[in-house]
Amino acid sequence: MKHIDAAAHTRGESQYVDDSPQPLGLLHVAVLGSPLAHGKILSIEIEDALQCDGVITIVLAGDIPGENQIGAIIPDEHLLAEKEVFYVGEPVAIVVAENFAQALQAKNKIQVQIEELSAVTDPRAAFANGQIIGTPRTFVFGDVENAWKQCDLIVEGRCDMGGQEHVYLETQRARAVPLENGAMRLYASTQSPYAVQRTVAGILGLPHHKIEVDVKRLGGGFGGKEDQATAWSCLAALAAWKTGKPVELVLPRHEDMVMTGKRHPYSSDFKIGLSAQGKILAYDVKHYQNSGAAADLSTAVLERTLFHSTNAYFIPNTRIFGACCRTNLPPNTAFRGFGGPQGMFVMESAIAKAAEQLNIQREEIQRRNLLCENDIFPYGQHAHEARAEKTWAEAENSFALPGLKERVAQFNQNNFEKKKGYAVMPICFGISFTTHFLNQAGALVHVYTDGSVSVSTGGVEMGQGFSTNITRIAAKAFGINQVRVKVESANTTRVANMSPSAASATTDLNGNATINAVTEIVDRLKSLAVSELGLGQKEKLSLKKERLFYAGKDTGWDWKKLVQTAYLNRVDLSAHGFYATPGICFDKQKEKGHPFAYHVYGTALLEVTVDCLRGTYNIDSTKIVHDLGRPLNELIDRGQVEGALAQGLGWMTLEELIFDKRGHFLSNSLATYKVPDVFFMPDDLEINFLQTAPGASGPYGAKAVGEPPFMYGIGLFFAIRHAMRAFNPKADLPFNSPLTPEKVLLQLHPQWGIDAENRRR
Ligand code: MTE
Ligand code: HPA
Ligand code: MOS
Repeated sequence: MKHIDAAAHTRGESQYVDDSPQPLGLLHVAVLGSPLAHGKILSIEIEDALQCDGVITIVLAGDIPGENQIGAIIPDEHLLAEKEVFYVGEPVAIVVAENFAQALQAKNKIQVQIEELSAVTDPRAAFANGQIIGTPRTFVFGDVENAWKQCDLIVEGRCDMGGQEHVYLETQRARAVPLENGAMRLYASTQSPYAVQRTVAGILGLPHHKIEVDVKRLGGGFGGKEDQATAWSCLAALAAWKTGKPVELVLPRHEDMVMTGKRHPYSSDFKIGLSAQGKILAYDVKHYQNSGAAADLSTAVLERTLFHSTNAYFIPNTRIFGACCRTNLPPNTAFRGFGGPQGMFVMESAIAKAAEQLNIQREEIQRRNLLCENDIFPYGQHAHEARAEKTWAEAENSFALPGLKERVAQFNQNNFEKKKGYAVMPICFGISFTTHFLNQAGALVHVYTDGSVSVSTGGVEMGQGFSTNITRIAAKAFGINQVRVKVESANTTRVANMSPSAASATTDLNGNATINAVTEIVDRLKSLAVSELGLGQKEKLSLKKERLFYAGKDTGWDWKKLVQTAYLNRVDLSAHGFYATPGICFDKQKEKGHPFAYHVYGTALLEVTVDCLRGTYNIDSTKIVHDLGRPLNELIDRGQVEGALAQGLGWMTLEELIFDKRGHFLSNSLATYKVPDVFFMPDDLEINFLQTAPGASGPYGAKAVGEPPFMYGIGLFFAIRHAMRAFNPKADLPFNSPLTPEKVLLQLHPQWGIDAENRRR
């Protein structure tokens, strides 16, 4: 099945927040952000701005009728700054005008006086100052201290990982429409309609039921709209409340890049101990997360870093520490992988450093330590249907790893300035929200008398193919043609208390809720049919391809006949379904439990050629064996693997967030922040699915696919490093990502030494 939006997207007909016809009198908003990373607000002068053409009003923190608070996990974030600002771009005021140009012009007339205070941008400095969000966490497994004594080799090191800008095509936006009796409807580009509903309600001092949030689709979210879409909806709602008029807020790209949080940069220390045979005996890691100025989702992101710190390996003794460090950058947030990639990058770096010291190939250590069936993760869960070894073996065989090694070695012998490198990258990613209560979903299904079906869930279509998956699931659960199914917008009046569409679990959760709703309707239809047709057991009835069978024999009734008869007999043709992932638990006191419904595994092989005189590189091939369970929809899943991989490759190499010491974001446009394009993608990309028996709790045995393939991209760093070492085995190569062409060049030729860091200052 094709993505159901493919044709309309291609023709530009799909509707996003600001594509539906504008309501009469729609007003527009410009947001004034703080010019400094940290300071005391002395005064805000708005008189001149208010005189500008078309300006209706200016909204400040003092105008907020409810609570000026948007922090979802920890209440530490104002919607509009009050006395102090904590990062560059933090919203201070909004201008509401008849059109956007007028709002923008007036915004520049607002005078804000701020007394600058010292800003911290480095997570280790923040940690040393005691600027910590929540409490640091430590996962302990086995006994690291004792284990060091048994190790033949102990290696220590440090990693510094950059963050990542989401670059969703559709920037943050929302439209707020005042309704009667003080209610409000929002059309929002958010992964979390309920977070918008409850936060807008809090800002306006209203009960949740007064706020309706409707989400048709997103032009990409990637985690950047899990929590960080909320503020823009709140600002639009606040303006609509103050003016009594519909209001639209659309962030221009530049503002979006400056004002919104990104993937968390991390700085980490590792210590790894191995036997002479390359068995990892102990691993000790400390993660300093650069959380930015407010908690946002940082504590949950850090938790996933801890969960994934040993990637796809079994290590008998581990100590995994992490702290959220508060800095004066925009609050960092969810991004595909949700902290997992940072944990895995450090693990892979530790293995690389150990391999280099043992003078063996990295993959020797990797392979020797892969998770096996029933191995225990540091958080106490047992690996069930572990496929680390299986995907590894299949990748090694179907993509001829020995041949690749040979070819790379040959090439490097015969070439001077160009060197090849390769890497094997196994992944293991846990599926479920790590926040236990979020693992629930509701669905509302209606069958109309013509046999057409409407499905509402709390799931958001953000390009990932959610609506296509739900169409498929509903059609399959009913036994009808998928053209009869329409998936509706996610709307808070149809499905209450929805979790964000995130954690790769949207289809798992909402798909299962849909199946539960459909099953209830089908059950009612069957009860009716046995009595109308005078049959004995309703369990013997089944619907297939729109025909009703009894014990395998066609009853002569089709779907339409069944539905119409049900209607005339006053049978309820609507149902609400609910799903809560069974069997998951976690004890935060002990840091042990069974947090994930299941794990997704896979192995990638990556090959690059590095031009060692220019620092540039080309990805020759990426070959992946990915564990999908029983795919719902292979074409969609393939798209997800490719997209996630592209973002993972970009995170490791091209995408560089540059902040100056005073917290100003310098790579703040798509001219200076480089995302991978189609030419950057591997020349040769092969994706094989490991189609295994079910076992996963996803609908019909499918496994979640949204985030796990991101982590294949990590292999690129080590493939490039491999090539760099072939050119200069003595080069001092730090584990700093992204490994941009500039860094490749300067690390290989430090004597050419324009120090990029100094030049920046
Ligand atoms: N794919 C597209 N096209 N657009 C997106 O915004 N978000 C990713 C992934 N794939 C995203 C995407 C992220 S961060 C997550 S968590 C999952 O999709 C969310 O959707 P799912 O739960 O249906 O996989
Ligand atoms: N992933 C995404 N979002 C989340 C998670 C998670 O694991 N936990 C809480 N919010
Ligand atoms: Mo995805 S980072 O869980 O939105």
